[in-house]
Order: sequence, then structure tokens, then C-alpha cells
Amino acid sequence: MVDNWVGELIYEGKAKRVYKVNDELLIMEFKDEVTAFDGARKEHAPGKGRLAAAQTVFFMQLLGKYGIRNHLVDWDGDRKILVKSLRMIPIEVIVRNYAYGSFLKRMPLVKPLTKFRKPLVEFHLKSDELHDPLITTDDIIEAGLVNYGQLNEIINTALRVNSILSEFMASRGLTLVDFKLEFGFDKSGNIVLADEISGDTMRILINGRHLDKELFRKGASALDLVRAYEEMNRLLNIP
Ligand code: C5P
Repeated sequence: MVDNWVGELIYEGKAKRVYKVNDELLIMEFKDEVTAFDGARKEHAPGKGRLAAAQTVFFMQLLGKYGIRNHLVDWDGDRKILVKSLRMIPIEVIVRNYAYGSFLKRMPLVKPLTKFRKPLVEFHLKSDELHDPLITTDDIIEAGLVNYGQLNEIINTALRVNSILSEFMASRGLTLVDFKLEFGFDKSGNIVLADEISGDTMRILINGRHLDKELFRKGASALDLVRAYEEMNRLLNIP
């Protein structure tokens, strides 16, 4: 798809760089870095970029098989993926199966790791300055980010992604606690699943042990995190 996997650097975040290839395509490069607490804790994590790229490719391809439209086009087999250029919707869509993380902070009346009667879907505005505040569906509509029909499509897609990933993980003995998705519009106005799906963007437990970035948030080293991602990839047969 691309000959040399290079483009013009247009964005650098904490864990990824984005390069423009042309008007249609971008390259997302996963860095060998792990950060937590808005970047306050940061460590070099050799090998993590490739592991997170492989996870993203694997999950996007799995979801694609179930008809979930997503931005993945190609993978260089290492730290870079080629994706469709989209007009991103500046919200994080979080699906929760069990009570954890920021849910417990705002709702301490629920015991940690309680299984919800049905998965919760919530929205956060993407804003480093405001620390990604929780927002309501009315806020989203009022701000004109999407219309009602589009919001429903996003919610239904997020729930379908949850069913597919939860079932897949369960069949391998893993529990999907929660995860974050991002969406964008393609040139035809379709809503497309974008960004990454990896240990950085989900919480996954095996016998009560994390195989995701929560390890690092809880004080584990970057090396331990890389080992956990390797274990996840082994368990899920991710190349
Ligand atoms: O911290 P919180 O409980 O809201 O996170 C819910 C899920 O969303 C977790 O799996 C976390 O890894 C993911 N998340 C993310 N990016 C963020 C915030 C949360 O991937 N900026």
C-alpha cells in the first residue's frame, strides 16, 4: 500500500506519532513508550510499540470480520499501521462491563469489580486541558459533534464491539473489564472506528491479574508491562 512507510509528521502524542501520506491515508506509529497520569509518569518500554500495533491490527481485523467498519488499511509488521484519514469526533467512548477506574471515583457506592447488569457506555470530551471530562449525550448533540442518529450508531457499534471482544476474550480465559474507542467520519460521511485497541486502551484480567496498562498505573515497571503485553499476545494468538 505504501512503499517506504514514511510521511509528513503531523501529530505527536504520548504514545503515538501520526504521519500524513496523502489526503486519504495516514501512518500511525506506536512508540516504545508508556505514560500514565496525564504524562506525569513516563518510561521507555522497548518492544511495546510493536506489541500494541499487533494488538490493534488483530482486534481491528477481528471486528472487521463482524462487519464493524474501521480505519485499518495495512501494517508494516512492526510499529506502524496505515489507516484511512478521517475527520475525528473529539470524544472518547468508554464501555464498561465491571466497575473500575474512573467509574469508581465518581460512583464509590458500587463495589470494585461489580459486574454491571448491562454494559455501560459513557462519553468523555477529548481535552488534555480539561482532563477528558465526562459529558452527556445532550452535551454532544448540543455541541453539534454528531446528530442523534449518528450517536445511536456509535452507541450500538460500541456495544457490538464489546460483545465481540468480550466473547473472544472469554473463550481464551480473559475478562474484558472496560475499554475506550474513538470514531471519525470518512469522506462519505460514514462513522468509522478509529485509533487503537490495545492493552493501553482496555483493562483485561486473567485470574484477577492485569494484562494491560493498569499494571503501569499501579507502579509496575515498563518492562513488566511489555511482558504482560507479550503474554496477552501469546494467549490470544496475536502474531
Ligand atoms: O480511567 P477509566 O476508568 O475511565 O478508563 C476506562 C477505560 O478506558 C480503561 O480501559 C482505560 O484504559 C481506557 N482509557 C483510555 N484512554 C483514556 C482514558 C481511558 O484508553 N484517555
